Amino acid sequence: MYVHGKDKYWPDKMNINQIRGDFPILRDGRIYFDNAATTLTPRQVLDAMNEYYEEFNANVHRGLHKFSIIASERYEESRKNVANFINADSDEIAFFSNTSKAINFIALSLDWKKGDKIVTTEIEHHSNLLPWLRLKRKFGINVEIVKADENGCLNIEDFENAIDKKTRLVALTHISNVTGTVSQVRDVGKISGDNNALCLVDGAQSVPHIKINIKELNCDFMAFSAHKMLGPTGIGAAYIKKDISEELDPACVGGGTVDYVSLDDYTLLEPPQRFEAGTPPIAEAIGFSRAVRYLGDIGMEKIEKYEKELTKYAINLLEDIDGLDIYGTCKPGVRRIGIIPFNIRGINADDLASILDSHGIAVRSGHHCAIPLMEVLGIKETVRASFYLYNTKEEIEQMISVFGKI
Ligand code: ALA
Repeated sequence: MYVHGKDKYWPDKMNINQIRGDFPILRDGRIYFDNAATTLTPRQVLDAMNEYYEEFNANVHRGLHKFSIIASERYEESRKNVANFINADSDEIAFFSNTSKAINFIALSLDWKKGDKIVTTEIEHHSNLLPWLRLKRKFGINVEIVKADENGCLNIEDFENAIDKKTRLVALTHISNVTGTVSQVRDVGKISGDNNALCLVDGAQSVPHIKINIKELNCDFMAFSAHKMLGPTGIGAAYIKKDISEELDPACVGGGTVDYVSLDDYTLLEPPQRFEAGTPPIAEAIGFSRAVRYLGDIGMEKIEKYEKELTKYAINLLEDIDGLDIYGTCKPGVRRIGIIPFNIRGINADDLASILDSHGIAVRSGHHCAIPLMEVLGIKETVRASFYLYNTKEEIEQMISVFGKI
């Protein structure tokens, strides 16, 4: 089995040309700055998924024939690799189809009582807000929102004030999908734990971009998606801490989750199998595993450092453009990874994204599934450029040169 943590292929620095050569879709020179929405897929991940279909295509945990045995082994090996990537144990990782599904599953699997309190924030992606607002509607849960400042930055004192003994769960993003700023998850997790509250972290933008040691984050749950970290769509994972997994009554049950069933009742398998009802995304799990291996081979510290360099470079150039506003700059010391939301005054964000597209540059425009945060920033929408390890300073310069033409 592959063991993570060795930088055997890139001992000195990131070889961007070599990395770019792994991505067939980059061959025509298009510039892809929409990595917060989804990332590109390297040949290695495509090959790993093809291998499943071509060599041992079978269902998992349900057959004693050769293909099923290989598929089951590879599926469980994938779980182990994804777990290793964040320093979790294998039985603390359950596969779901994406971050949103994982958060919803956890929300619906906990046992809520009227009057319980959930603390979340103003900067969340809708996927880490709606599941909690739905509990408010359904069960009368009290949802308290930690406010952000006008730049979308959170203050730890506000969590100290909001989290109390009535709080059952605190849900926050690790890295904002709009501004790229990194939240103080470890401190929030500690305050939650001190108040006997659970802490759920939306890791959709952090696990792909910074090194995660889940044991240091003081959280009970973390959700993330493969497609934002070079893997396929249709699969994501939730870290569910061992002490809490037994407390969840799975929101979805069925085939693959039971130890015994009578016509009256059932006994569930141990976690995490009990959380994965139905045939799981098998090829996708294998692709996810290959993606984390690809990232691990390069080294997450190097990836973060490189993205930081790109971001700094882009912000410096963007700041020099008259009439261009950048959002989400927090006080010095707050980490920001490669996401930059901006607008050019007098040009609609969608129009600007279309102009960039006509120059072969892909960015996202809109509210980025974070309408409350847009209101904090005092705008309706932005253009968003988001980087990953295959992007270059030259690509950023090409984007800037388009603005020159406008
Ligand atoms: N959550 C993804 C984004 O921010 C889709 O673009």
